[in-house]
Amino acid sequence: MSKIKPVYASFRSIGAYVPEKILSNTDLEKMVDTTDEWIVKRTGISERHIAAENEYTSDMGAKAAELAIKRSGIPKEDIDLVLCATVTPDYFNMPSTACVISDKLAIHNVQAFDISAACSGFVYLLSVAKAFIESGMKKNVLVIGAEKFSSIVDYTDRSTCILFGDGAGAAVISASEKKEEGFIDIHASADGSYADFLVTPAPGSIHPVSQKVIDEGLNFVQMKGNETFKLAVKTLTKDVKEILAKNEIDSNDIPHFIPHQANYRIIKAVGDALKMKEEQVVLTVHKYGNTSAASIPMAINDIWESGRLQNGELMLLDTFGGGLTWASALLPFAGKSV
Ligand code: ACO
Repeated sequence: MSKIKPVYASFRSIGAYVPEKILSNTDLEKMVDTTDEWIVKRTGISERHIAAENEYTSDMGAKAAELAIKRSGIPKEDIDLVLCATVTPDYFNMPSTACVISDKLAIHNVQAFDISAACSGFVYLLSVAKAFIESGMKKNVLVIGAEKFSSIVDYTDRSTCILFGDGAGAAVISASEKKEEGFIDIHASADGSYADFLVTPAPGSIHPVSQKVIDEGLNFVQMKGNETFKLAVKTLTKDVKEILAKNEIDSNDIPHFIPHQANYRIIKAVGDALKMKEEQVVLTVHKYGNTSAASIPMAINDIWESGRLQNGELMLLDTFGGGLTWASALLPFAGKSV
């Protein structure tokens, strides 16, 4: 009887796209009652990038994906699954942004779909890619986190408009026979009882598009900032402690801790609770703001492009988002170093 060789999901490459236009805190001072000082002190954000009016989630996702494919060295004809995480899809609700991106990349006749897990979307997708690859169903999965968050932000609401930015990140996850290249572990979870912490009420089956939706601004993101903050710190810390303990890895042995980039104070509180040194913690929130599902792949791309992320080095991803959803992942970078 022939033995079936096990295969492991491995993180082959990373790419990202950041739109050209910058929205600085000084710009926001002219739009709402806020100050650069308040925003920097409470969030650590100095600026965020905003997509052009005719630049959509799929455009940004396709640009990030193109780079990730090129850097993987895998021909695009070999991609057999395209996944996109977004809460700001091109269309509500068909076609999926993954389908639109596939077409823009001329990747046809492969399975493609979106998932909605807000800021946890990219790490959620890594668990989906792992399952498809390690079950032998797919070999090369393109995973994309892309957001035009500015399309659901109310730029008269100072409590939310200062936080979010646009952008995209993508990775190619491939089957490998080498165990040392494979993902070590992923935890992904959710608790819908906190659904009202972060919500975009419309459009949806509860509130289809109507004059009421427009008049009451139900198409904009609404957030219980304070409650979200506290739960985020608690969940992110607990999740990392669990995944490290389960895999018997010490937090000091993680060269790259890549948390969701929502707020510097959240990242600092989590990093401190985990006794992480400053150089272990990846930070991009100051320049991109919170880009939701794109935040983690954009941060990975940042350290890869700057030469900080080398082949074989361990990454610890940690995220939370609307739903509420949360997820953490421990995995080596199995791509080429810069
Ligand atoms: N400028 C000046 N003052 C402001 C601003 C602003 N932009 N926004 C709020 N304030 C005021 C409030 O009105 C309040 O005033 P009051 O005391 O007179 O009522 C005061 O500042 C304090 O407000 P808080 O909400 O308590 O401020 P906090 O320190 O909690 O900071 C923030 C708010 C930045 C939103 C914080 O709660 C946060 O980051 N929360 C987490 C948000 C988050 O991560 N969301 C994303 C989740 S991921 C996803 O899936 C999308």
